[in-house]
Amino acid sequence: MTNPKSINQYRALFVSHLEGQIKLKEPENLYEPIIYILGLGGKRLRPVLTLMSAELFGSNTMNAMNAAMAVEMFHNFSLVHDDIMDDAPLRRGKTTVHEKWDINTGILSGDAMLIKSYQFFESYPLEVFKELTSLFSQTAIEVCEGQQYDVDFETREDVTILEYLKMIAYKTAVLVATAMKMGAIVANAPEKDADAIYDFGKNLGLAFQLQDDYLDAFGNPETFGKQVGGDIIENKKTFLFLKSLELGKKEQKEALMHLYSIKPEDSDTKVETVKTIFKESGAVEETKAAIHEYTERAFSALEMVNISKPNKLVLREFGKNLMGRTV
Ligand code: IPE
Ligand code: IPE
Ligand code: MG
Ligand code: MG
Ligand code: MG
Repeated sequence: MTNPKSINQYRALFVSHLEGQIKLKEPENLYEPIIYILGLGGKRLRPVLTLMSAELFGSNTMNAMNAAMAVEMFHNFSLVHDDIMDDAPLRRGKTTVHEKWDINTGILSGDAMLIKSYQFFESYPLEVFKELTSLFSQTAIEVCEGQQYDVDFETREDVTILEYLKMIAYKTAVLVATAMKMGAIVANAPEKDADAIYDFGKNLGLAFQLQDDYLDAFGNPETFGKQVGGDIIENKKTFLFLKSLELGKKEQKEALMHLYSIKPEDSDTKVETVKTIFKESGAVEETKAAIHEYTERAFSALEMVNISKPNKLVLREFGKNLMGRTV
């Protein structure tokens, strides 16, 4: 039994593999944006989870590398299209693909990445290939559903917390869960364990998206890498917003409802006013509590996974670090 590697070791392994995979080809306007977005880095959270999960279930990281590539490629595809949908100027501290090139380039390079993500499964034996693609396709469709809810909610005034939770489960958490389950699948782990690790990943993914919503409003613009206040500008119905409506005073609710029905030219005042309401209503505290709660739920799910205690500790550490992340 090998000792579990550190997160940085998994990330380094993955990144060096990724770098060997991406080459510029013609037509350059298709491939350059792909190399650009993949080269901007990011946390590499999902592929690291795939590699870790495979190893914790007794396989080796090389065996999981193509599944890890698939999930990172899919994630990057989803970001390029998400940035078009969210009209986002910044990604990982740099200009978004559709702003650097144009929207059509973002659409097609994104499409190509989606297809490429599937090609990584071709290296696996038929049974494993079938399991991976079937899980991945189910997840990909859920991500689309989550993304559509997210957009639909921008113009709805009656979104509930329950609907929000379903939306983030789909747009974000299922992919984190799948990243982990793919590790279990390539390691031929028992189905029960593969499902339990999926559960762990899903709860971790919910905490992760809640934290993403928090950082979108309160992150440090110098280091966050995305436009701070972007969700407020786009009238996104986040946990912060919904909790403010639930907990805020009458005037705060009225101000929020009004501000979320407009898109002013100059958004600075809107962003500042909304952030003040988020803080004063108690929504920030509630969001932090929810992040904590979902991380704890992830840890409970972890108890059901049949892996060694030290291996569980590695995953707990990972979850704890994620809770405190600032980027
Ligand atoms: C961004 O994901 C999209 C969300 C689901 C919040 P990450 O925060 O994992 O993005 P990178 O890959 O590290 O840039
Ligand atoms: C993105 O959610 C989820 C997907 C890309 C599928 P967000 O829109 O909150 O992600 P960021 O904040 O742009 O990274
Ligand atoms: Mg976005
Ligand atoms: Mg979005
Ligand atoms: Mg976000």
